[in-house]
Amino acid sequence: MGAYAAAASDEWCAADAPVDVADATAEYTLRVLGKTLFGIETDDRREAVRAGAHAIRERSSDAPGAVAVPEWLPTPSNRRYRRGISQLESVIDALLDKQESAADGDDLLSLLQAATGPDGPSEDEIRSQLATFLFAGHETSATALTWALYEIGRRPDVARRLAAEVDEVVTGEYATLDDLPALGYTDRFLRETLRRYPPAAAIFRETDAAVRIGGYRMPADTFVVIPQFHVHTDDRWWDDPYRFDPSRWESTEETDSDRPEYAYFPFEGGPRHCIGMRFARLELKIALATFVHRCRVDHDVDEVGVDVGSTVRPATEIDARISRRSPTETP
Ligand code: HEM
Repeated sequence: MGAYAAAASDEWCAADAPVDVADATAEYTLRVLGKTLFGIETDDRREAVRAGAHAIRERSSDAPGAVAVPEWLPTPSNRRYRRGISQLESVIDALLDKQESAADGDDLLSLLQAATGPDGPSEDEIRSQLATFLFAGHETSATALTWALYEIGRRPDVARRLAAEVDEVVTGEYATLDDLPALGYTDRFLRETLRRYPPAAAIFRETDAAVRIGGYRMPADTFVVIPQFHVHTDDRWWDDPYRFDPSRWESTEETDSDRPEYAYFPFEGGPRHCIGMRFARLELKIALATFVHRCRVDHDVDEVGVDVGSTVRPATEIDARISRRSPTETP
């Protein structure tokens, strides 16, 4: 994670044109995911995975009426969706080819393939797991890093504080596991990023049986939307909720006590909460500390709209000028 973050920073700093932050962070998180979960370099599969991610995102941003159109109808939107998904499937085919991954490796794919037997996953299940991990495991973290770099580029006060902390703690080429406990402000900055801009906008559930929740009666088979994007900015639980303010996490004990547990749930909760939560927290902290340590980020986007689909993304491209900084230089 750290080595790839350092390499990504160098590429961005060397670019002679502004960097599209969403694109650049997605390239980074996909590389990390490919290496850690599948033991592969993703560079030449990037376009195909991104096409699949784009198809999923576009489908979940569609109006509800459009989603109801049967998938087999050759509408332009259905055709685009199929094209994107079939590119993602081609990557999965390549991954499933045994030559791609060492059969005795300890990456996720090798473990899934080794778990054969009557209770083991079928090939379809493995395919489905890979598709979920490829999408859920890189698009979300990239979205969080995009918002983080957006805030760094428009809030010099926050950027200065982050850089001061990181420069004191990170001594090598990139942030390491040993550096993380001392990066308290970086941690609060990331928590605030996931509050204000939760990469997953909402989660969906269906009731098995009639149930009463918070004074509402719901019959069986009710479709329930739990929108973290709205809950995280509800002023019943958050002061000045639209303000991006990492310092609100400083007095966590005091504020947490009168806030319900699920006023903040970027990774959702319960048995089906994000299985990659710890992976993601680790990756975001190592990546951000490394980016801040090595680069200065400037852009001219002040107030950006929010595009709520399968992920919560900036509504417009954020093109940033990214340049190398030395640790003594204030951003
Ligand atoms: C900031 C980054 C991330 C956020 C905000 C996030 C958020 C979420 C949320 C809210 C869910 C629950 C969806 C639901 O219950 O319907 C979820 C599920 C999932 N996430 Fe993440 N995620 C992140 C990163 C990752 C990473 C890095 C991985 C893989 C390494 C990952 C893999 C998954 C998988 C496989 C599921 C489905 C789990 C299941 O159905 O049991 N996520 N994620």
